[in-house]
Amino acid sequence: MYRYIGNKTKLLPHITERVRELIGDTGTVADIMAGTGSVSLELRKCGYKVMASDVMTYSYHHLVTNLQIAEYPRFAGLVTCKVISPNSETPYADVLLYLNGLQAKQSFFYREFSPGGKPLNGCPARKYFTSANAAKIDTIREKINEWVERRYITALEESLLKHTLIMAVNEVANISGTYGYFLSDFKKNARDAIVLKPVEIYPKNSDGHIVRLGFAENLAGLITADLCYIDPPYMKRQYAANYHILETLARGDFPEAIGKSGLRDWWDQHSKLCTKTRGLQSFEKIINDIHCNKFLVSYSEDGLFALEQLEECFGKIGTVQVQLIDYNRFRSNDSKLPSKLKEYLISVERKV
Ligand SMILES: C[S@@+](CC[C@H](N)C(=O)[O-])C[C@H]1O[C@@H](n2cnc3c(N)ncnc32)[C@H](O)[C@@H]1O
Repeated sequence: MYRYIGNKTKLLPHITERVRELIGDTGTVADIMAGTGSVSLELRKCGYKVMASDVMTYSYHHLVTNLQIAEYPRFAGLVTCKVISPNSETPYADVLLYLNGLQAKQSFFYREFSPGGKPLNGCPARKYFTSANAAKIDTIREKINEWVERRYITALEESLLKHTLIMAVNEVANISGTYGYFLSDFKKNARDAIVLKPVEIYPKNSDGHIVRLGFAENLAGLITADLCYIDPPYMKRQYAANYHILETLARGDFPEAIGKSGLRDWWDQHSKLCTKTRGLQSFEKIINDIHCNKFLVSYSEDGLFALEQLEECFGKIGTVQVQLIDYNRFRSNDSKLPSKLKEYLISVERKV
């Protein structure tokens, strides 16, 4: 499972059951803070049309893969330039074989994120990846960049390859839960060689879903849906800081790696929902601007806002119902926080 703060994979049955109770078996559901895309994919599997978005670029590629692909693409442009054979019966697997087989070269990831490198800002070498894995990541991501620039691959193919690369990187990252910092010693799985593996694709119902990149506050006015699922951050920890490496993989860029931990400048993706001072205003803006009368909101008992504050905020537009679910907390490996807590599933029906 994708280790991502707030990943709802374990809560999917509760979420889809509540969606069904609120709007029945069909309709359009917006998932406006969609993260790994786990909820969006499940909604697609249940037969809903999904409008998914998030402010993070990696999420965009996960969402395109989870919602808009029903069969592995043909990679026709890579046939033309002879990366794979025209007779290939498994083009996606063959592209991965090609990428896995490239000669590793030392570039940005090697320099900034591995013990063999020398960070440009003079900080000590970082240990997010072994030197061999960092060099491999450099080769693969720069090859994908080249294919995008030369238009050898389509936008869907690009998203699938970036999704595949991120899933492989997650397997070998030398971190404790998030990319906020690296571990001082290499843990066992971080020593394994990185390998791109084919990801599973859901084979049905890929038409009509919409994927966008952006702040929910800005996109809300563009969205018309039967139900809007909102799964906001519930802590002060900013996703942009904690997943900076995945963002760099998704964008394919070469940002300045700042400070000891090598974070990219993430201010453009700073979320107001991670702040006590502006979070509730953001919720209000979203629910006022979106063209939708039913909302389902996930939140956690130990979030920034108390249940009463959320009930008051959502109560301004309609009736609120709360379901409490026992849940195991997302914890970094060294966390001392208790593992059990309550997850809220808050339904809101706008008075019309
Ligand atoms: C709790 S996670 C969502 C997890 C997701 N449901 C899953 O299962 O993977 C919250 C998400 O909200 C996104 N986010 C935070 N503030 C946002 C905003 N103002 N607009 C859009 N997305 C935002 C974060 O990037 C993060 O992916």
